[in-house]
Amino acid sequence: MAGRRSLIIVSNRGPVTFDRGPDGERVLRRGGGGLVTALRGLLEHHDVTWIAAATTDEDRVVADEGSSEVAFVAPAPAAYHGYYNVVSNPMLWFIQHGLWGRGLRPDLDEAFHAAWRDYETVNRLFAERVVVELDNKPDAAVLFHDYHLYLAPGYVRAARPGAELAHFVHIPWPVDWTILPEPMRRAVHDGLLANDVVGFHTARWAHNFEASCDEVVGGHAGTHVTHHAISIDTAEFDELARSDKVLAEERDLERNRPERLVLRVDRTDPSKNIVRGLEAFGLLLDAHPEWRGRARMLALLDPSRQSIPEYVEYVAAIERTTDDVNARHPGAIDLQVADNFQRSVAAYKQFDVLLVNAVYDGLNLVAKEAPLVNTRDGVLVLSENAGAHEELAEWALTVNPFDVWGQAEALHAALSMEPAERRRRRDGICAQVRTHDVHAWLDGLLADLDAV
Ligand code: F6P
Repeated sequence: MAGRRSLIIVSNRGPVTFDRGPDGERVLRRGGGGLVTALRGLLEHHDVTWIAAATTDEDRVVADEGSSEVAFVAPAPAAYHGYYNVVSNPMLWFIQHGLWGRGLRPDLDEAFHAAWRDYETVNRLFAERVVVELDNKPDAAVLFHDYHLYLAPGYVRAARPGAELAHFVHIPWPVDWTILPEPMRRAVHDGLLANDVVGFHTARWAHNFEASCDEVVGGHAGTHVTHHAISIDTAEFDELARSDKVLAEERDLERNRPERLVLRVDRTDPSKNIVRGLEAFGLLLDAHPEWRGRARMLALLDPSRQSIPEYVEYVAAIERTTDDVNARHPGAIDLQVADNFQRSVAAYKQFDVLLVNAVYDGLNLVAKEAPLVNTRDGVLVLSENAGAHEELAEWALTVNPFDVWGQAEALHAALSMEPAERRRRRDGICAQVRTHDVHAWLDGLLADLDAV
């Protein structure tokens, strides 16, 4: 691991968030999502100032006190709504994950244009805070993260031309940005190109970015485009897997586990392709009676973005599909929609087959976390459109995310695989993840920044 660095991390979600408990006391919760899980591991190794949005009332109180490990920016709730629930999600998220059907949606009405102004406002607020922190730590490198903050680097660059700025985009990058009107897609590209370095998880997304820069702004001169696949803090996961809470959850799972456990762990996001995965499991049982009663699918789903209609509809579709499959094959799918990270880690240890069939995914950390702590030589079935596929394909069974029949056949192949082959594949993934952990990812990104 390279030496200690002075960093300013900027992301919508912070490493912690605050609430009030039943007796009015302040309660601290771990921030959700893959990005936070990965980046938290860096906190003790570097001198980090983390700027994030206040997302609860208590975060706002903490923001006013200025007392926390997170430097909160506190946008007005109405502006935050436009920035997060309209522009970032679903608009940018759906563009970047290829989720818009285009025939009827999206509709860029007047409300969308107003929300775009909110997106600008909140990005400006983040940028102002970055400038303040940079004045405190002038030698710090600024690391922006993700699609909530495409405009902020441009505002910081205008105020502090000499600052060291990098932006890491954790989600896919498409070539085609024509859903966004020209001034908006130009602003997205100009904002990103105000950075010294723009990073993606895979060569595929980085190439797409270069192509869209050519298309939208005529190139990317002055900005180094790079790719480094993010990873996990393996020590943290090893420890977590041994923790009392995870062991308690694991005993619970073991008590009523089927002979073969097919697992998926996701946020309830249409990009994760949960509905087609459930259908595929149903098709597997239709076509291969030998697995009926022996294999069960456990779907541990973290409810996500439920203030956005598309996400509410998606949860309903998940429930309908589960009911359909269970009507044909009683008890075949155990659907649990809850935020329970410990249970997920317990299930990581117990799976025989892990299904990661994302429509598109920047990387997908579940594909790394779960095999690392698995105890049964479980097999990874992996979408060719998940960024992790670029790294793990040789040890996974590859599926096309739209091909539900192909997914059913891959599940059958995974369930039928010989033990030695399963072991070989899992060992391959573990060795890759242990030698390419989150620290290696950050070192790679910082080396690129130093080289510019
Ligand atoms: O990089 C994608 C991401 O921003 C990750 O932090 C996480 O996987 C997810 O999206 C979290 O989404 P949200 O912050 O909207 O819950």
